Amino acid sequence: MPFPIHRPRRLRKNENIRRLVRETTLSVNDFIYPIFIEDGQNIKSEIQSMPGIYRYSIDRLSEELDEVSELNIPAVLLFGIPSEKDAVGSDTWSEEGIIQRAVRFIKENYPDLYVITDVCFCEYTEHGHCGVLCNHDVENDITLENTKKQVVSHAKAGADMVAPSGMMDGVVKAIREALDEAGFSNIPIMSYSAKYASAYYGPFREAAESTPAFGDRRTYQMDPANRREALKEVSLDIEEGADIVMVKPALAYLDIISDIRKNFNVPVAAYNVSGEYSMVKAAGKLGWIDEEKVIIETLTSIKRAGADIIITYHAKEVAKLLKGC
Ligand code: PBG
Ligand code: ZN
Repeated sequence: MPFPIHRPRRLRKNENIRRLVRETTLSVNDFIYPIFIEDGQNIKSEIQSMPGIYRYSIDRLSEELDEVSELNIPAVLLFGIPSEKDAVGSDTWSEEGIIQRAVRFIKENYPDLYVITDVCFCEYTEHGHCGVLCNHDVENDITLENTKKQVVSHAKAGADMVAPSGMMDGVVKAIREALDEAGFSNIPIMSYSAKYASAYYGPFREAAESTPAFGDRRTYQMDPANRREALKEVSLDIEEGADIVMVKPALAYLDIISDIRKNFNVPVAAYNVSGEYSMVKAAGKLGWIDEEKVIIETLTSIKRAGADIIITYHAKEVAKLLKGC
Protein backbone atom coordinates (compact mmCIF):
# COMPACT_ATOMS: atom_id res chain seq x y z
CA MET A 1 0.00 0.00 0.00
CA PRO A 2 2.01 2.95 -1.19
CA PHE A 3 1.30 6.66 -0.98
CA PRO A 4 -0.87 8.17 0.50
CA ILE A 5 -1.00 5.47 3.20
CA HIS A 6 2.80 5.45 3.48
CA ARG A 7 4.48 8.77 4.03
CA PRO A 8 8.09 8.15 5.13
CA ARG A 9 8.44 11.86 5.89
CA ARG A 10 6.32 11.32 9.04
CA LEU A 11 9.37 9.86 10.72
CA ARG A 12 11.57 12.79 9.73
CA LYS A 13 9.39 15.51 11.22
CA ASN A 14 11.80 16.74 13.87
CA GLU A 15 15.09 15.87 15.50
CA ASN A 16 13.49 13.86 18.30
CA ILE A 17 11.72 11.42 16.04
CA ARG A 18 14.79 11.27 13.82
CA ARG A 19 16.87 10.35 16.86
CA LEU A 20 14.44 7.54 17.68
CA VAL A 21 14.63 5.95 14.24
CA ARG A 22 18.32 6.56 13.61
CA GLU A 23 19.98 3.31 12.58
CA THR A 24 23.63 4.21 13.06
CA THR A 25 25.31 6.32 15.71
CA LEU A 26 28.94 7.10 16.22
CA SER A 27 30.52 6.73 19.61
CA VAL A 28 33.98 7.30 20.96
CA ASN A 29 33.96 3.54 21.63
CA ASP A 30 34.34 2.98 17.88
CA PHE A 31 37.69 4.66 17.46
CA ILE A 32 41.34 3.74 17.30
CA TYR A 33 43.71 6.69 17.01
CA PRO A 34 46.95 6.24 15.01
CA ILE A 35 50.09 7.86 16.41
CA PHE A 36 53.47 8.42 14.74
CA ILE A 37 56.48 8.12 17.00
CA GLU A 38 59.88 9.26 15.87
CA ASP A 39 63.25 8.49 17.36
CA GLY A 40 64.90 11.59 18.83
CA GLN A 41 64.26 14.29 21.39
CA ASN A 42 61.86 17.15 21.80
CA ILE A 43 60.07 16.47 18.54
CA LYS A 44 56.52 17.51 17.74
CA SER A 45 56.42 18.11 14.01
CA GLU A 46 53.24 18.52 12.02
CA ILE A 47 52.80 16.41 8.92
CA GLN A 48 52.40 18.90 6.14
CA SER A 49 49.62 17.14 4.30
CA MET A 50 47.82 16.11 7.50
CA PRO A 51 47.03 19.25 9.50
CA GLY A 52 46.55 18.43 13.19
CA ILE A 53 48.60 15.22 13.00
CA TYR A 54 52.15 15.20 14.37
CA ARG A 55 55.19 13.03 14.73
CA TYR A 56 56.26 12.88 18.36
CA SER A 57 59.40 11.79 20.10
CA ILE A 58 58.75 9.65 23.18
CA ASP A 59 59.67 12.48 25.57
CA ARG A 60 56.77 14.56 24.20
CA LEU A 61 54.28 11.76 23.63
CA SER A 62 52.38 12.67 26.79
CA GLU A 63 51.03 15.78 25.09
CA GLU A 64 49.12 13.46 22.78
CA LEU A 65 48.35 10.67 25.23
CA ASP A 66 46.95 12.98 27.90
CA GLU A 67 44.39 14.17 25.40
CA VAL A 68 43.59 10.69 24.12
CA SER A 69 42.99 9.46 27.68
CA GLU A 70 41.02 12.55 28.63
CA LEU A 71 38.74 11.99 25.63
CA ASN A 72 38.30 8.33 26.60
CA ILE A 73 39.46 7.01 23.23
CA PRO A 74 39.91 3.29 23.87
CA ALA A 75 42.98 2.50 21.80
CA VAL A 76 45.96 3.82 19.89
CA LEU A 77 47.73 2.28 16.90
CA LEU A 78 51.46 2.94 16.90
CA PHE A 79 53.73 3.59 13.94
CA GLY A 80 57.44 4.07 14.46
CA ILE A 81 60.04 6.04 12.55
CA PRO A 82 63.49 4.76 13.58
CA SER A 83 66.69 6.81 13.40
CA GLU A 84 68.44 4.05 11.46
CA LYS A 85 67.05 2.00 8.62
CA ASP A 86 68.65 -1.08 7.08
CA ALA A 87 67.96 -3.71 4.43
CA VAL A 88 65.72 -5.89 6.61
CA GLY A 89 64.26 -3.44 9.15
CA SER A 90 65.99 -4.89 12.19
CA ASP A 91 64.84 -2.05 14.44
CA THR A 92 61.42 -3.76 14.38
CA TRP A 93 62.59 -6.62 16.57
CA SER A 94 65.17 -4.82 18.69
CA GLU A 95 64.49 -4.55 22.40
CA GLU A 96 65.59 -0.92 22.11
CA GLY A 97 63.61 -0.30 18.93
CA ILE A 98 61.49 2.81 18.66
CA ILE A 99 58.19 0.94 19.10
CA GLN A 100 59.45 -1.20 21.97
CA ARG A 101 60.57 1.91 23.88
CA ALA A 102 57.33 3.71 23.08
CA VAL A 103 55.16 0.79 24.22
CA ARG A 104 57.06 0.51 27.50
CA PHE A 105 56.68 4.25 28.06
CA ILE A 106 52.94 4.17 27.38
CA LYS A 107 52.28 1.09 29.49
CA GLU A 108 54.20 2.60 32.40
CA ASN A 109 52.44 5.93 32.27
CA TYR A 110 49.02 5.09 30.79
CA PRO A 111 48.41 1.50 31.85
CA ASP A 112 44.72 1.61 30.90
CA LEU A 113 45.23 2.77 27.33
CA TYR A 114 44.94 -0.13 24.89
CA VAL A 115 48.08 -0.25 22.77
CA ILE A 116 48.04 -1.79 19.30
CA THR A 117 51.23 -1.98 17.27
CA ASP A 118 51.36 -1.86 13.49
CA VAL A 119 53.49 -4.79 12.39
CA CYS A 120 55.37 -4.12 9.17
CA PHE A 121 58.80 -3.18 7.86
CA CYS A 122 58.38 -0.37 5.35
CA GLU A 123 59.20 2.43 7.82
CA TYR A 124 62.32 0.53 8.84
CA THR A 125 63.87 -0.58 5.58
CA GLU A 126 66.13 1.56 3.38
CA HIS A 127 64.17 0.46 0.31
CA GLY A 128 60.76 1.18 1.87
CA HIS A 129 59.23 -2.19 1.05
CA CYS A 130 57.25 -4.24 3.56
CA GLY A 131 59.78 -7.04 4.03
CA VAL A 132 63.02 -8.62 2.92
CA LEU A 133 63.86 -8.13 -0.75
CA CYS A 134 64.89 -10.82 -3.14
CA ASN A 135 65.12 -10.12 -6.88
CA HIS A 136 63.40 -6.76 -6.41
CA ASP A 137 60.34 -8.25 -4.76
CA VAL A 138 59.45 -8.98 -1.15
CA GLU A 139 60.33 -12.55 -0.22
CA ASN A 140 57.27 -13.86 1.61
CA ASP A 141 58.55 -16.62 3.86
CA ILE A 142 61.75 -14.93 5.03
CA THR A 143 59.66 -11.90 5.89
CA LEU A 144 57.41 -14.15 8.01
CA GLU A 145 60.41 -15.20 10.08
CA ASN A 146 61.26 -11.57 10.80
CA THR A 147 57.62 -10.81 11.53
CA LYS A 148 57.64 -13.47 14.24
CA LYS A 149 60.58 -11.78 15.93
CA GLN A 150 58.86 -8.43 15.62
CA VAL A 151 55.58 -9.47 17.25
CA VAL A 152 57.21 -11.33 20.13
CA SER A 153 59.31 -8.29 20.83
CA HIS A 154 56.22 -6.02 20.74
CA ALA A 155 54.46 -8.39 23.12
CA LYS A 156 57.41 -8.42 25.51
CA ALA A 157 57.39 -4.63 25.55
CA GLY A 158 53.73 -4.77 26.63
CA ALA A 159 51.63 -4.38 23.47
CA ASP A 160 47.99 -5.36 23.97
CA MET A 161 47.35 -6.30 20.33
CA VAL A 162 49.34 -6.64 17.12
CA ALA A 163 48.20 -5.57 13.67
CA PRO A 164 50.13 -7.00 10.72
CA SER A 165 49.84 -4.66 7.73
CA GLY A 166 52.24 -6.14 5.18
CA MET A 167 49.82 -8.49 3.37
CA MET A 168 52.24 -11.42 3.44
CA ASP A 169 50.67 -14.83 2.86
CA GLY A 170 50.44 -16.92 6.02
CA VAL A 171 51.33 -14.01 8.29
CA VAL A 172 48.49 -14.55 10.74
CA LYS A 173 49.39 -18.20 11.26
CA ALA A 174 53.06 -17.32 11.71
CA ILE A 175 52.22 -14.64 14.27
CA ARG A 176 49.76 -16.81 16.19
CA GLU A 177 52.32 -19.59 16.50
CA ALA A 178 55.10 -17.24 17.51
CA LEU A 179 53.00 -15.50 20.16
CA ASP A 180 51.68 -18.76 21.57
CA GLU A 181 55.14 -20.28 21.76
CA ALA A 182 56.45 -17.24 23.59
CA GLY A 183 53.62 -17.38 26.14
CA PHE A 184 51.42 -14.67 24.66
CA SER A 185 48.41 -16.73 23.68
CA ASN A 186 46.11 -14.02 25.02
CA ILE A 187 47.29 -11.30 22.68
CA PRO A 188 44.85 -10.84 19.79
CA ILE A 189 45.68 -10.23 16.14
CA MET A 190 43.97 -7.57 14.08
CA SER A 191 44.89 -8.40 10.52
CA TYR A 192 44.96 -5.90 7.68
CA SER A 193 43.21 -8.64 5.69
CA ALA A 194 41.93 -6.66 2.74
CA LYS A 195 44.52 -3.98 2.22
CA TYR A 196 44.49 -2.48 -1.23
CA ALA A 197 47.41 -1.05 -3.21
CA SER A 198 45.98 2.44 -2.86
CA ALA A 199 47.00 5.95 -3.79
CA TYR A 200 45.22 7.11 -0.63
CA TYR A 201 48.30 6.21 1.45
CA GLY A 202 50.31 9.11 0.02
CA PRO A 203 50.31 11.41 3.04
CA PHE A 204 51.05 8.51 5.41
CA ARG A 205 54.16 7.70 3.45
CA GLU A 206 55.34 11.27 3.94
CA ALA A 207 54.53 10.97 7.65
CA ALA A 208 56.19 7.60 8.14
CA GLU A 209 58.96 7.94 5.57
CA SER A 210 57.86 4.68 4.02
CA THR A 211 57.63 5.39 0.30
CA PRO A 212 59.10 2.48 -1.65
CA ALA A 213 62.41 3.50 -3.24
CA PHE A 214 61.45 1.69 -6.44
CA GLY A 215 58.32 0.06 -7.80
CA ASP A 216 55.11 -0.25 -5.83
CA ARG A 217 53.35 -2.64 -3.48
CA ARG A 218 51.17 -4.36 -6.03
CA THR A 219 52.76 -7.80 -5.60
CA TYR A 220 51.51 -7.95 -2.02
CA GLN A 221 48.67 -5.45 -1.54
CA MET A 222 45.36 -6.11 -3.30
CA ASP A 223 44.25 -4.83 -6.67
CA PRO A 224 41.62 -2.08 -6.10
CA ALA A 225 39.47 -3.68 -8.78
CA ASN A 226 38.91 -6.88 -6.80
CA ARG A 227 35.94 -7.65 -4.56
CA ARG A 228 35.63 -11.43 -4.26
CA GLU A 229 39.33 -11.71 -3.49
CA ALA A 230 38.77 -9.72 -0.29
CA LEU A 231 36.48 -12.47 1.00
CA LYS A 232 39.15 -15.03 0.21
CA GLU A 233 41.82 -13.02 2.08
CA VAL A 234 39.52 -12.60 5.07
CA SER A 235 38.54 -16.25 5.23
CA LEU A 236 42.20 -17.29 5.11
CA ASP A 237 43.05 -14.87 7.91
CA ILE A 238 40.19 -16.09 10.09
CA GLU A 239 41.21 -19.70 9.54
CA GLU A 240 44.76 -18.77 10.50
CA GLY A 241 43.52 -17.20 13.73
CA ALA A 242 42.78 -13.51 13.11
CA ASP A 243 40.62 -12.07 15.89
CA ILE A 244 39.68 -8.90 14.01
CA VAL A 245 39.86 -8.30 10.27
CA MET A 246 40.42 -4.97 8.62
CA VAL A 247 39.57 -3.28 5.36
CA LYS A 248 41.82 -0.51 4.15
CA PRO A 249 41.26 2.15 2.86
CA ALA A 250 37.66 2.67 3.99
CA LEU A 251 35.79 5.08 1.76
CA ALA A 252 36.48 3.74 -1.69
CA TYR A 253 35.91 0.24 -0.27
CA LEU A 254 32.57 0.45 1.57
CA ASP A 255 31.26 -2.44 -0.54
CA ILE A 256 34.09 -4.59 0.78
CA ILE A 257 33.30 -3.65 4.38
CA SER A 258 29.67 -4.55 3.78
CA ASP A 259 30.51 -7.88 2.11
CA ILE A 260 32.77 -8.89 4.97
CA ARG A 261 30.22 -7.88 7.59
CA LYS A 262 27.61 -10.06 5.88
CA ASN A 263 29.85 -13.08 5.42
CA PHE A 264 31.81 -13.38 8.67
CA ASN A 265 31.18 -13.14 12.38
CA VAL A 266 34.36 -11.52 13.63
CA PRO A 267 34.66 -7.80 14.38
CA VAL A 268 35.41 -5.74 11.28
CA ALA A 269 37.72 -2.74 11.41
CA ALA A 270 38.03 -0.11 8.70
CA TYR A 271 41.01 2.20 8.27
CA ASN A 272 40.00 5.74 7.29
CA VAL A 273 43.43 6.40 5.81
CA SER A 274 45.69 9.41 5.49
CA GLY A 275 44.56 10.45 1.99
CA GLU A 276 40.92 10.39 3.07
CA TYR A 277 41.84 12.63 6.00
CA SER A 278 43.92 15.01 3.89
CA MET A 279 41.21 15.52 1.30
CA VAL A 280 38.66 16.53 3.93
CA LYS A 281 41.16 18.83 5.65
CA ALA A 282 42.17 20.46 2.37
CA ALA A 283 38.61 21.12 1.25
CA GLY A 284 37.75 22.33 4.74
CA LYS A 285 40.66 24.77 4.73
CA LEU A 286 39.54 26.17 1.40
CA GLY A 287 36.07 26.65 2.79
CA TRP A 288 34.62 24.37 0.13
CA ILE A 289 32.86 22.02 2.55
CA ASP A 290 31.50 22.13 6.09
CA GLU A 291 34.35 20.13 7.53
CA GLU A 292 32.73 18.96 10.76
CA LYS A 293 29.61 17.74 9.01
CA VAL A 294 31.61 15.97 6.34
CA ILE A 295 33.71 14.20 8.97
CA ILE A 296 30.65 12.94 10.85
CA GLU A 297 28.90 11.90 7.65
CA THR A 298 32.00 10.08 6.43
CA LEU A 299 32.62 8.15 9.62
CA THR A 300 28.91 7.34 9.89
CA SER A 301 29.01 5.87 6.39
CA ILE A 302 31.89 3.61 7.37
CA LYS A 303 29.98 2.37 10.38
CA ARG A 304 26.74 2.02 8.41
CA ALA A 305 28.58 -0.12 5.86
CA GLY A 306 29.36 -2.55 8.65
CA ALA A 307 32.54 -1.53 10.46
CA ASP A 308 32.60 -2.15 14.20
CA ILE A 309 35.87 -0.31 14.64
CA ILE A 310 37.15 2.76 12.81
CA ILE A 311 40.82 3.63 12.75
CA THR A 312 40.88 7.34 12.09
CA TYR A 313 43.04 10.46 12.38
CA HIS A 314 39.78 12.29 13.13
CA ALA A 315 39.29 10.34 16.40
CA LYS A 316 40.20 13.19 18.74
CA GLU A 317 38.21 15.89 16.99
CA VAL A 318 35.15 13.66 16.70
CA ALA A 319 35.44 12.57 20.33
CA LYS A 320 35.34 16.27 21.20
CA LEU A 321 32.32 16.89 18.98
CA LEU A 322 30.47 13.92 20.49
CA LYS A 323 31.22 15.24 23.95
CA GLY A 324 29.92 18.63 22.92
CA CYS A 325 33.16 20.49 23.60
C1 PBG B 1 52.46 0.18 6.03
C2 PBG B 1 51.22 0.95 6.24
C3 PBG B 1 50.65 1.89 5.37
C4 PBG B 1 49.55 2.41 6.04
C5 PBG B 1 49.45 1.74 7.27
N1 PBG B 1 50.50 0.84 7.37
C6 PBG B 1 51.08 2.42 4.08
C7 PBG B 1 51.41 1.57 2.95
O1 PBG B 1 51.02 0.41 2.83
O2 PBG B 1 52.16 2.12 2.12
C8 PBG B 1 48.65 3.48 5.51
C9 PBG B 1 47.94 4.30 6.51
C10 PBG B 1 47.39 5.57 5.99
O3 PBG B 1 47.49 5.92 4.80
O4 PBG B 1 46.83 6.30 6.82
N2 PBG B 1 52.34 -1.14 5.69
ZN1 ZN C 1 54.53 -1.89 5.17
